[in-house]
Amino acid sequence: MLNIINALNWRYAANAYDTNKKLSDEQVNTLIESIRLAPSSYGLPVYKVIHVKDIETRKKLKAVAWDQPQITDASDLFVFAVKTDLGDASVDDYVNLIMETRNVSAESLSKFAAMIKGTLKSLSEDHKTTWAAKQAYLALGVLLSTAALEEIDSTPMEGFDKKQFDEILGLKDLGLTSTVVCTAGYRSENDSSASMAKVRVSKENLVIEK
Ligand SMILES: Cc1cc2nc3c(=O)[nH]c(=O)nc-3n(C[C@H](O)[C@H](O)[C@H](O)COP(=O)(O)O)c2cc1C
Repeated sequence: MLNIINALNWRYAANAYDTNKKLSDEQVNTLIESIRLAPSSYGLPVYKVIHVKDIETRKKLKAVAWDQPQITDASDLFVFAVKTDLGDASVDDYVNLIMETRNVSAESLSKFAAMIKGTLKSLSEDHKTTWAAKQAYLALGVLLSTAALEEIDSTPMEGFDKKQFDEILGLKDLGLTSTVVCTAGYRSENDSSASMAKVRVSKENLVIEK
């Protein structure tokens, strides 16, 4: 395993994948587990991850993602989709999960539950979706870092038509809407982006010390 800074220097957004190389089940499980362990605001589960395995579906998705080849050529495709029905019931489900996991009473969580319910009620539907998307992006970051440490190539992707993704994946019926995508696999030998120098601002331009 690489150390974290070497890993972050090693990774890049893969443009072309080797279609013959597939990730093992263990590698895929590691990636999914890293998403599962990602933090979120209040710890509330606000998104699902669609692991799209069907190649015909992936071809349809590629057609509405500017024909970006990663969608079909990477070993694995993950679509982060946020919940569109966040409200009291989602908080109750979460509270039940905490009660089961930590063996604590509903009473001990009642203030916490009321606070989350209050937050959700105070947000417009659009704001709620944006808030949920932030949590999904955080998990995306954890996924990208994990992939890098495991020397698995990946590509975060926003270049797709969300409405069409929702339609193709039947997300509306599941109370979900797509927000961001990540592909994972092995880079192609012909991917010229792999050897390009990383473009980042200097530490001085990034950090403001006060
Ligand atoms: C949220 C997000 C969306 C992105 N969408 C795309 C995309 O649709 N297609 C693509 O080829 N790269 C996409 N990228 C990759 C970025 O262009 C890339 O991460 C950035 O240029 C920095 O380069 P590096 O990741 O190779 O170091 C996306 C990156 C992020 C973080």
